[in-house]
Amino acid sequence: METEKNISRRTFLAASGLGAAVSVMPTLVLAKAADKSFQLRAEPVGRKLVPGVAASSDLWLYNGETPGPEIRVKQGETIRVKFTNNLPEPTSIHWHGIRIDNAMDGVAGLTQDAVPPGGTFNYEFTVPDAGTFWYHAHNKSWEQVARGLYGPLIVEETEPVFDSEHDITLVIDDWQLNKDGSFNVAGLGSFGEWSHGGRFGNWVTVNGLPARQTIPVKAGEAYRIRLVNAANARVFGLDPTALGAKVIAYDGQALPEAVTLPYEPLLLAPAQRVDLLITPKAGDRLKLSAKGDLAMVAASGEQEMYFAEFVAEGEGDVVSVSLPKPNELPEPDLLSAKKVPILMEGGAMGQIGKIIYNGKEIKGQEIYESKQVWTFNSIANLSKKPLFQAKRGETVEISFDNKTGWLHAMHVHGHHFRVLERSGSNIDEGQPWRDTFAIGPDQTTQIAFVADNPGKWLLHCHMLEHAVAGMRTWFEVV
Ligand code: C2O
Ligand code: CU
Repeated sequence: METEKNISRRTFLAASGLGAAVSVMPTLVLAKAADKSFQLRAEPVGRKLVPGVAASSDLWLYNGETPGPEIRVKQGETIRVKFTNNLPEPTSIHWHGIRIDNAMDGVAGLTQDAVPPGGTFNYEFTVPDAGTFWYHAHNKSWEQVARGLYGPLIVEETEPVFDSEHDITLVIDDWQLNKDGSFNVAGLGSFGEWSHGGRFGNWVTVNGLPARQTIPVKAGEAYRIRLVNAANARVFGLDPTALGAKVIAYDGQALPEAVTLPYEPLLLAPAQRVDLLITPKAGDRLKLSAKGDLAMVAASGEQEMYFAEFVAEGEGDVVSVSLPKPNELPEPDLLSAKKVPILMEGGAMGQIGKIIYNGKEIKGQEIYESKQVWTFNSIANLSKKPLFQAKRGETVEISFDNKTGWLHAMHVHGHHFRVLERSGSNIDEGQPWRDTFAIGPDQTTQIAFVADNPGKWLLHCHMLEHAVAGMRTWFEVV
């Protein structure tokens, strides 16, 4: 018998029990209330992430749950959230992907003051788009999100498309655990992680439960699987073809038609969502796996790595389904667009130029002390002046040029954009709407959107270590 001290990474994964598959549909606690008013508390919670064997983890969770409660509302409704901060440090909540009123965007230091320990804040906003969204802490996100402060926010179509039994949300995360199975608190803030690929976990959960969940489904019926990547830095490489799945939405925005991907894997970068349509046939056992993710495969030892297995019960024939309709978004006018170039530099093993931080150039030891190692147009983190201003209603076209040695997950607050073009890849056919896009080393990507939402908006890498170490900027719509 191994003692707790020398439990290996493989033992963790074994503890999740292949063979002892959990035949329970992971359910989330619904915060639903008749008047769409919800209560969220951020609080410290001791929780065993690895069943049975391991030590308890010092997590920070919403309402004691991981993920936080699933908030479900209908398109066009107004959500009211009474938020209480029971953490030992200030925090705020960001409603990721919602084209929201700026004052409710939850960015501590830009759109609101962080809520102090013991304090409260009332969030109130209308949700214009149906789709898969999520919420998470937005103060020291690299620590607060890593510790578990996130949950799904599902906006249902006004005309129901899938009933709740056929609408499955799976929130995926990777946690960095110590040898005894407890969450690695001491490792938070590591300069090595900030300057390289970010904080990676060695323990994967699906809705807070160990990966390899078994989910019963009915043969012949159609299901929407809503996937949310809540990891700080890990890009999950999915293999939807093994499920016979079609993609029906990216980042909360339904596609005009269901798409069978002509390539694999489907990359799900931090903060991205994808909705899949599956129609299992009798006898099917469909695995949602992490294809092509070598790090994940390594972490899982000899076991096959997958997130969930959909096991079809019954004999039904496949029915035809109606799909959600795309939301109405303002179409960019490229001819009159304001053009903004963003040169991405810094980090280990990439091109490093000047680093301007708090208005002055930093060098040598100052870089290590401030831990500011990534830049957009030579500026690390937020400066007093916005990166650009746009007039309300103006189209903005941003060209990103990634001269770093790493992949990044770029997120624009308050707007969805079309991915117009990406060098060296055809994976954005149809120029889909997104709120977060992945950009690889030496890649360029053009995006465009109509800046129709007044206020101060963040634009940052959603690899949360990169964001805090410089990859954040902001723009203003006036
Ligand atoms: Cu999902 Cu600035 O965040
Ligand atoms: Cu990044």
